[in-house]
Amino acid sequence: MHHFQHTNNELYAEDVSVRELAREHGTPLYVYSAATLRRHFQAYDSAFDKVRHITCFSVKCNSNLSLLHLLKREGAGADIVSGGELAKALEAGIAPEKIVFSGVGKKYWEMTYALRAGILMCNVESDQEMELLSRAAADTGIPARMSLRINPDVDPGTHPYISTGLKKNKFGVAIERAPELYARAGKDPWLEPVGIDCHIGSQLTQVSPFLESLERLKELYTRLQGMGLSIDYLDLGGGLGITYEEEDPPHPGELGEALSDALADMDVTLVLEPGRVIAGNAGIMVTRTLYTKETELKHFTVVDAAMNDLIRPSYYGAYHRIAEVTPQGREVAPRDIVGPICETGDFLAQDRDLPFIEPGELLAVFSAGGYGFAMASQYNSRPRGAEVMVDGDRAHLVRERESIEEMIAPEKRLLTHGDG
Ligand code: LLP
Repeated sequence: MHHFQHTNNELYAEDVSVRELAREHGTPLYVYSAATLRRHFQAYDSAFDKVRHITCFSVKCNSNLSLLHLLKREGAGADIVSGGELAKALEAGIAPEKIVFSGVGKKYWEMTYALRAGILMCNVESDQEMELLSRAAADTGIPARMSLRINPDVDPGTHPYISTGLKKNKFGVAIERAPELYARAGKDPWLEPVGIDCHIGSQLTQVSPFLESLERLKELYTRLQGMGLSIDYLDLGGGLGITYEEEDPPHPGELGEALSDALADMDVTLVLEPGRVIAGNAGIMVTRTLYTKETELKHFTVVDAAMNDLIRPSYYGAYHRIAEVTPQGREVAPRDIVGPICETGDFLAQDRDLPFIEPGELLAVFSAGGYGFAMASQYNSRPRGAEVMVDGDRAHLVRERESIEEMIAPEKRLLTHGDG
C-alpha cells in the first residue's frame, strides 16, 4: 500500500500534485510519501510486538536525513555500514543504543567512531576484523559489544548480486567456525560477544529462508550458552521483499508471526534491519520526456533521468513500474524508456507497453524510494536530482538539486594548468 494514486487523470503524492512538484523543483525528482513511510514502518515494527525487539532501518536503502528523522520519530534505530552512515544516523537524532554496524570492510577510524558514539554493537564479519575491533576498543578504552555475522549457507532465492548468505558469498563467517571465534572473543578483555547476526539477502519473497537461517542460529545459540557465553541479541538482518511488478512477498505480519513463534524459547532481544520494505514503495522518481525516436526496430522515449539516477534496471535487470503523470487514455505499444547517458545499458524500461509520450510530458517511475537516490552517481557529470517529502497536503524539499558549481568545486580548487 502506498499513497501515490491517480485522481482525475493526475498523479498525486498524498494530496499534492506530482505535476506541480515537477514544475516547482524540476526533474529528475524523487518524491517520498511521509504517510507511506510511517505506515510501512509501523506495519513492520508492530509485526514483532510479541517479542522484545529493535527495528533498525537499513540506512543504505535511503539515507536522506529528513527521511531518517521521520523514521526515528516512529521509533526506528539504524543499521549502518560506514562511518558516513553513522554520521547521518546520529545527525538525524537516532539513539546510538539503537544502532548496529554491519559490513565486511570496516576501517579502524570507523570502529573508534562507533565505539565513542556508544552504538549497540558491531557485527563482525572476519577474524581479522575481530582483532582490529579489539585493538580499537583497547585504544579508546571502550569495550566493544559485538556479534558475529554468521553465514548460514541458506539460499534466499533472490538475484545473485543481492544474495549474501551462501557459502560462496563474501559475507560473514561460516557457522562451523563460529564457536571457535566466540570462544576467542569471550577471552578477550576488550570484546563483549553479546549477539549473533545474519543477513541472507535482499528482496526475499518467502518466509522459509528466514526460518531456515533462524533454525541454524538457534543451534549456535544453544551451543554458545553451553560454553558459558550469554547472548542477549539476535540480529536477523533485513531482506523482506516488495512488489515491483507481480511479486507476492509475505506481509510483514506473516514474517513477524513466524519468526516470533520460532523465537519463543530464546531469551534474546531481536534486532531487525529492514530497508526496502519500509522505503521502496514510499518513493517515486519523476522524469520529463526529452525526445522520441523511432528506429526500424524500436521506439525510444528519451527522458531526463538516467542510470545514474536509478541504476536498478541497468544493474539488476530490475522492473520498475512506469506511468504517465497525467494519463490520457492513449493506445499503448512497446517502448524503451532510456536516459541521456552514453551507454546502451542506460534504460529504465525495455519493451514496456506505454503510450506515445510527447516531449515535455512527465513520467513517474515507481518503487524508487529504496536504492534509488542512495545509489545515484554523477556519471556523465550529471548533478544528482532533488528530493521532496510530501506529508498530507504539504511538500518539503529535503535535498536540493546539486548544482554544476557544487559538482565541480572539489576539482576546480585544485585545477593545475601545468606548463604545457
Ligand atoms: N542488513 C544488511 C547487513 C544488508 O546488507 C542489507 C542490504 C539490509 C540489512 C537491508 O536489506 P533490505 O531490507 O533492504 O532488503 N541495491 C540492491 C539491494 C542491496 C541490498 C544490500 N544489503 C537493490 O537495489 O536491490
